[in-house]
Amino acid sequence: MTRHSDPASPKAACGRDSVRIVPVWDPLVRAVHWLLAATILVNGLLSDPESDLHETLGYVALGLLVLRLGWGLIGPRPARLASFPPYPLRALHHLRAVLTGDRTVHLTHNPLGALMVWNIWGSLGIIIATGIMMGTRRFFGVDWVEEVHEAMFDWLLLSVVLHVGGVIFDSRRSGVPLVRAMIDGRKRIPADAPIE
Ligand code: HEM
Ligand code: HEM
Repeated sequence: MTRHSDPASPKAACGRDSVRIVPVWDPLVRAVHWLLAATILVNGLLSDPESDLHETLGYVALGLLVLRLGWGLIGPRPARLASFPPYPLRALHHLRAVLTGDRTVHLTHNPLGALMVWNIWGSLGIIIATGIMMGTRRFFGVDWVEEVHEAMFDWLLLSVVLHVGGVIFDSRRSGVPLVRAMIDGRKRIPADAPIE
Protein backbone atom coordinates (compact mmCIF):
# COMPACT_ATOMS: atom_id res chain seq x y z
CA MET A 1 0.00 0.00 0.00
CA THR A 2 1.26 3.46 -0.83
CA ARG A 3 1.68 6.13 1.78
CA HIS A 4 1.08 9.70 0.67
CA SER A 5 2.32 11.95 3.44
CA ASP A 6 3.54 14.52 0.95
CA PRO A 7 1.09 17.42 0.63
CA ALA A 8 2.15 17.73 -3.00
CA SER A 9 0.90 14.20 -3.66
CA PRO A 10 -1.06 14.05 -6.94
CA LYS A 11 -4.08 12.81 -5.01
CA ALA A 12 -4.13 15.86 -2.81
CA ALA A 13 -5.73 19.11 -3.85
CA CYS A 14 -4.42 22.18 -2.05
CA GLY A 15 -6.38 23.30 0.96
CA ARG A 16 -5.52 25.47 3.96
CA ASP A 17 -1.94 25.10 5.18
CA SER A 18 -2.86 22.67 7.93
CA VAL A 19 -5.15 20.36 5.95
CA ARG A 20 -5.06 18.52 2.68
CA ILE A 21 -8.40 18.30 0.91
CA VAL A 22 -8.75 15.03 -0.96
CA PRO A 23 -11.82 14.09 -3.02
CA VAL A 24 -12.87 10.56 -2.04
CA TRP A 25 -16.61 9.94 -2.31
CA ASP A 26 -18.14 10.51 -5.75
CA PRO A 27 -21.77 11.71 -6.07
CA LEU A 28 -23.15 8.21 -6.64
CA VAL A 29 -21.64 6.83 -3.42
CA ARG A 30 -22.98 9.78 -1.44
CA ALA A 31 -26.46 9.70 -2.98
CA VAL A 32 -26.77 5.93 -2.52
CA HIS A 33 -25.57 6.19 1.09
CA TRP A 34 -28.12 8.76 2.23
CA LEU A 35 -30.99 7.34 0.15
CA LEU A 36 -30.30 3.83 1.42
CA ALA A 37 -30.12 5.03 5.03
CA ALA A 38 -33.45 6.87 4.65
CA THR A 39 -35.13 3.94 2.89
CA ILE A 40 -34.05 1.45 5.55
CA LEU A 41 -35.08 3.63 8.47
CA VAL A 42 -38.46 4.57 6.98
CA ASN A 43 -39.19 0.98 5.96
CA GLY A 44 -38.10 -0.62 9.21
CA LEU A 45 -39.49 1.91 11.66
CA LEU A 46 -42.33 3.81 10.00
CA SER A 47 -43.96 1.89 7.15
CA ASP A 48 -46.78 -0.59 7.68
CA PRO A 49 -45.08 -3.93 6.92
CA GLU A 50 -48.18 -5.25 5.17
CA SER A 51 -48.50 -2.23 2.90
CA ASP A 52 -47.50 -1.78 -0.74
CA LEU A 53 -45.22 1.03 0.43
CA HIS A 54 -43.18 -1.44 2.50
CA GLU A 55 -42.67 -3.69 -0.51
CA THR A 56 -41.93 -0.78 -2.85
CA LEU A 57 -39.34 0.74 -0.51
CA GLY A 58 -37.80 -2.71 -0.11
CA TYR A 59 -37.36 -2.92 -3.89
CA VAL A 60 -35.95 0.62 -3.94
CA ALA A 61 -33.38 -0.53 -1.34
CA LEU A 62 -32.60 -3.53 -3.55
CA GLY A 63 -32.06 -1.25 -6.54
CA LEU A 64 -29.75 1.03 -4.54
CA LEU A 65 -27.78 -1.95 -3.25
CA VAL A 66 -27.32 -3.41 -6.74
CA LEU A 67 -26.37 0.01 -8.11
CA ARG A 68 -23.74 0.49 -5.40
CA LEU A 69 -22.28 -2.99 -5.83
CA GLY A 70 -22.13 -2.52 -9.61
CA TRP A 71 -20.45 0.86 -9.12
CA GLY A 72 -18.01 -0.91 -6.81
CA LEU A 73 -16.77 -2.84 -9.85
CA ILE A 74 -16.30 0.08 -12.25
CA GLY A 75 -16.31 3.27 -10.15
CA PRO A 76 -13.40 5.36 -8.89
CA ARG A 77 -10.80 3.77 -6.63
CA PRO A 78 -12.15 4.74 -3.14
CA ALA A 79 -15.56 3.35 -4.17
CA ARG A 80 -14.16 0.07 -5.52
CA LEU A 81 -15.16 -3.04 -3.58
CA ALA A 82 -11.60 -4.32 -4.04
CA SER A 83 -10.29 -1.25 -2.16
CA PHE A 84 -11.96 -2.31 1.09
CA PRO A 85 -12.27 -6.11 1.32
CA PRO A 86 -13.80 -7.53 4.52
CA TYR A 87 -10.64 -8.97 6.08
CA PRO A 88 -11.05 -9.59 9.85
CA LEU A 89 -7.29 -9.88 10.42
CA ARG A 90 -6.65 -6.57 8.75
CA ALA A 91 -9.39 -5.06 10.90
CA LEU A 92 -7.71 -6.46 14.04
CA HIS A 93 -4.35 -4.99 13.03
CA HIS A 94 -6.04 -1.68 12.37
CA LEU A 95 -7.70 -1.78 15.79
CA ARG A 96 -4.35 -2.47 17.46
CA ALA A 97 -2.73 0.38 15.52
CA VAL A 98 -5.52 2.77 16.52
CA LEU A 99 -5.17 1.80 20.18
CA THR A 100 -1.45 2.52 20.04
CA GLY A 101 -2.05 6.01 18.67
CA ASP A 102 -1.62 5.48 14.91
CA ARG A 103 -3.16 8.46 13.07
CA THR A 104 -3.12 7.03 9.55
CA VAL A 105 -6.02 8.23 7.40
CA HIS A 106 -7.50 5.90 4.77
CA LEU A 107 -8.72 7.24 1.43
CA THR A 108 -11.43 4.59 1.40
CA HIS A 109 -13.10 2.84 4.38
CA ASN A 110 -10.61 1.83 7.06
CA PRO A 111 -10.37 -1.96 7.61
CA LEU A 112 -12.79 -1.93 10.57
CA GLY A 113 -15.21 0.27 8.67
CA ALA A 114 -14.91 -2.09 5.70
CA LEU A 115 -16.11 -5.03 7.83
CA MET A 116 -19.07 -2.96 8.95
CA VAL A 117 -19.95 -1.87 5.43
CA TRP A 118 -20.01 -5.48 4.18
CA ASN A 119 -22.00 -6.51 7.24
CA ILE A 120 -24.59 -3.80 6.53
CA TRP A 121 -24.89 -4.75 2.85
CA GLY A 122 -25.08 -8.47 3.70
CA SER A 123 -27.73 -7.97 6.38
CA LEU A 124 -29.77 -5.82 4.04
CA GLY A 125 -29.48 -8.47 1.33
CA ILE A 126 -30.89 -11.10 3.71
CA ILE A 127 -33.73 -8.77 4.78
CA ILE A 128 -34.72 -8.13 1.18
CA ALA A 129 -34.41 -11.81 0.17
CA THR A 130 -36.58 -13.01 3.07
CA GLY A 131 -39.05 -10.16 2.42
CA ILE A 132 -39.48 -11.35 -1.16
CA MET A 133 -39.67 -14.98 -0.03
CA MET A 134 -42.59 -14.16 2.26
CA GLY A 135 -44.62 -13.28 -0.81
CA THR A 136 -43.98 -16.57 -2.60
CA ARG A 137 -46.23 -19.69 -2.48
CA ARG A 138 -43.38 -21.78 -1.13
CA PHE A 139 -42.52 -19.58 1.83
CA PHE A 140 -45.77 -17.72 2.53
CA GLY A 141 -46.63 -18.15 6.22
CA VAL A 142 -43.37 -19.98 7.01
CA ASP A 143 -42.35 -18.75 10.45
CA TRP A 144 -38.60 -18.90 10.15
CA VAL A 145 -38.57 -16.68 7.07
CA GLU A 146 -40.48 -13.94 8.90
CA GLU A 147 -38.31 -14.41 12.00
CA VAL A 148 -35.09 -14.06 9.98
CA HIS A 149 -36.50 -10.94 8.26
CA GLU A 150 -37.20 -9.30 11.61
CA ALA A 151 -34.09 -10.53 13.43
CA MET A 152 -31.85 -9.28 10.63
CA PHE A 153 -33.53 -5.90 10.83
CA ASP A 154 -32.76 -5.73 14.58
CA TRP A 155 -29.17 -6.72 13.79
CA LEU A 156 -29.00 -4.05 11.07
CA LEU A 157 -30.26 -1.40 13.49
CA LEU A 158 -27.61 -2.39 16.05
CA SER A 159 -25.00 -2.33 13.28
CA VAL A 160 -26.07 1.16 12.23
CA VAL A 161 -25.72 2.41 15.82
CA LEU A 162 -22.20 0.94 15.95
CA HIS A 163 -21.50 2.34 12.49
CA VAL A 164 -22.42 5.89 13.51
CA GLY A 165 -20.47 5.46 16.76
CA GLY A 166 -17.45 4.28 14.74
CA VAL A 167 -17.74 7.25 12.40
CA ILE A 168 -17.80 9.70 15.34
CA PHE A 169 -14.91 7.92 17.07
CA ASP A 170 -12.78 7.81 13.93
CA SER A 171 -13.50 11.46 13.11
CA ARG A 172 -12.11 12.41 16.53
CA ARG A 173 -9.16 10.05 16.33
CA SER A 174 -8.06 11.06 12.86
CA GLY A 175 -9.12 14.71 12.91
CA VAL A 176 -10.97 14.15 9.61
CA PRO A 177 -14.65 15.23 9.61
CA LEU A 178 -15.99 12.01 8.05
CA VAL A 179 -19.68 12.93 8.00
CA ARG A 180 -18.84 16.12 6.12
CA ALA A 181 -16.87 14.00 3.64
CA MET A 182 -19.95 11.79 3.07
CA ILE A 183 -21.87 15.02 2.30
CA ASP A 184 -19.48 16.94 0.02
CA GLY A 185 -17.22 14.06 -0.99
CA ARG A 186 -13.95 15.51 0.33
CA LYS A 187 -11.79 14.41 3.24
CA ARG A 188 -10.03 17.22 5.07
CA ILE A 189 -6.89 15.53 6.32
CA PRO A 190 -4.48 17.07 8.85
CA ALA A 191 -1.27 17.88 6.98
CA ASP A 192 0.90 15.80 9.29
CA ALA A 193 -1.23 12.63 9.15
CA PRO A 194 0.03 9.72 7.04
CA ILE A 195 -2.38 8.68 4.29
CA GLU A 196 -2.94 5.11 3.15
C1 HEM B 1 -29.66 3.27 8.20
C2 HEM B 1 -28.64 4.08 8.37
C3 HEM B 1 -27.27 3.90 7.70
C4 HEM B 1 -26.80 2.91 6.90
C5 HEM B 1 -27.53 1.65 6.44
C6 HEM B 1 -25.45 3.25 6.54
C7 HEM B 1 -24.63 2.49 5.73
C8 HEM B 1 -23.39 2.86 5.27
C9 HEM B 1 -22.65 2.19 4.26
C10 HEM B 1 -23.12 0.92 3.52
C11 HEM B 1 -21.50 2.87 4.06
C12 HEM B 1 -20.45 2.58 3.00
C13 HEM B 1 -20.70 3.57 1.86
C14 HEM B 1 -20.21 3.11 0.52
O1 HEM B 1 -19.03 2.72 0.37
O2 HEM B 1 -21.02 3.12 -0.42
C15 HEM B 1 -21.48 3.97 4.98
C16 HEM B 1 -20.48 4.89 5.08
C17 HEM B 1 -20.56 6.01 5.90
N1 HEM B 1 -21.63 6.39 6.67
FE1 HEM B 1 -23.34 5.41 6.91
N2 HEM B 1 -25.12 4.44 7.12
C18 HEM B 1 -26.21 4.86 7.84
C19 HEM B 1 -26.32 6.01 8.57
C20 HEM B 1 -25.33 6.93 8.70
C21 HEM B 1 -25.42 8.14 9.48
C22 HEM B 1 -26.66 8.57 10.27
C23 HEM B 1 -24.23 8.78 9.35
C24 HEM B 1 -23.79 10.08 9.98
C25 HEM B 1 -23.93 10.37 11.22
C26 HEM B 1 -23.39 7.98 8.49
C27 HEM B 1 -22.12 8.31 8.12
C28 HEM B 1 -21.32 7.58 7.28
C29 HEM B 1 -19.98 7.97 6.91
C30 HEM B 1 -19.24 9.23 7.37
C31 HEM B 1 -19.49 6.98 6.06
C32 HEM B 1 -18.10 6.93 5.44
C33 HEM B 1 -17.19 6.30 6.49
C34 HEM B 1 -15.74 6.32 6.03
O3 HEM B 1 -15.22 7.41 5.84
O4 HEM B 1 -15.18 5.22 5.87
N3 HEM B 1 -24.08 6.86 8.12
N4 HEM B 1 -22.66 3.96 5.71
C1 HEM C 1 -35.24 -2.02 3.37
C2 HEM C 1 -35.71 -3.27 3.36
C3 HEM C 1 -36.64 -3.80 4.39
C4 HEM C 1 -36.71 -3.53 5.73
C5 HEM C 1 -35.80 -2.62 6.54
C6 HEM C 1 -37.80 -4.30 6.27
C7 HEM C 1 -38.17 -4.32 7.61
C8 HEM C 1 -39.21 -5.06 8.14
C9 HEM C 1 -39.57 -5.15 9.53
C10 HEM C 1 -38.83 -4.42 10.66
C11 HEM C 1 -40.65 -5.97 9.63
C12 HEM C 1 -41.37 -6.39 10.91
C13 HEM C 1 -42.42 -5.40 11.22
C14 HEM C 1 -43.27 -5.81 12.41
O1 HEM C 1 -43.63 -6.98 12.51
O2 HEM C 1 -43.55 -4.94 13.21
C15 HEM C 1 -41.00 -6.40 8.30
C16 HEM C 1 -42.05 -7.24 7.99
C17 HEM C 1 -42.37 -7.65 6.72
N1 HEM C 1 -41.72 -7.29 5.54
FE1 HEM C 1 -40.07 -6.17 5.41
N2 HEM C 1 -38.38 -5.01 5.25
C18 HEM C 1 -37.72 -4.72 4.09
C19 HEM C 1 -37.97 -5.21 2.83
C20 HEM C 1 -39.06 -6.03 2.51
C21 HEM C 1 -39.37 -6.52 1.20
C22 HEM C 1 -38.53 -6.25 -0.06
C23 HEM C 1 -40.50 -7.22 1.29
C24 HEM C 1 -41.30 -7.94 0.21
C25 HEM C 1 -41.15 -7.78 -1.08
C26 HEM C 1 -40.91 -7.21 2.66
C27 HEM C 1 -42.03 -7.84 3.16
C28 HEM C 1 -42.36 -7.91 4.49
C29 HEM C 1 -43.47 -8.69 5.00
C30 HEM C 1 -44.43 -9.53 4.16
C31 HEM C 1 -43.46 -8.53 6.38
C32 HEM C 1 -44.37 -9.22 7.41
C33 HEM C 1 -45.63 -8.51 7.57
C34 HEM C 1 -46.42 -9.21 8.64
O3 HEM C 1 -46.16 -8.93 9.82
O4 HEM C 1 -47.21 -10.02 8.27
N3 HEM C 1 -40.00 -6.48 3.39
N4 HEM C 1 -40.10 -5.83 7.41
